[in-house]
Amino acid sequence: MSVTLNVNGREHTLDVEPDTPLLWAIRDHIELTGTKFGCGIAMCGACTVHADGNPVRSCSIPVVAVAGMKITTIEGVESSAAKVVQDAWESLQVPQCGYCQSGQIMSATALLESNPNPSDADIDAAMQGNICRCATYPRIRAAIKSAAEKLG
Ligand code: FES
Ligand code: FES
Repeated sequence: MSVTLNVNGREHTLDVEPDTPLLWAIRDHIELTGTKFGCGIAMCGACTVHADGNPVRSCSIPVVAVAGMKITTIEGVESSAAKVVQDAWESLQVPQCGYCQSGQIMSATALLESNPNPSDADIDAAMQGNICRCATYPRIRAAIKSAAEKLG
């Protein structure tokens, strides 16, 4: 069956089963590999992308569920919140191995797009589903706070 996805502002018509996970459509068919596979069961956040601006776990959402929505991946996220988040990530040298970081950035960006002045509790709630094996959590939080200050 064919499914049309709008990813980073471009339409892609893919010959895939409707229950194909969005992650595999993005990585294998559209060949955007910045979005990572971690657990495959919506537990780690490595595969986080935006669907109509909301963070979703692309490993656990079928393509048919997001056809017609605007999908944004790490390669295409470019709002003002995304820019300050990425600048903060770079200046505070957040990543260690880097594997989880595109998912972290996508969750952080979605948070600041909906709430430019988050409390610590807001940050914890938004980021709790993004696991980092290297435990970069203190730098992630500092970067989100720094980005929020710049947005404010
Ligand atoms: S790979 Fe999707 S949440 Fe872990
Ligand atoms: S930076 Fe290594 S898993 Fe997060």
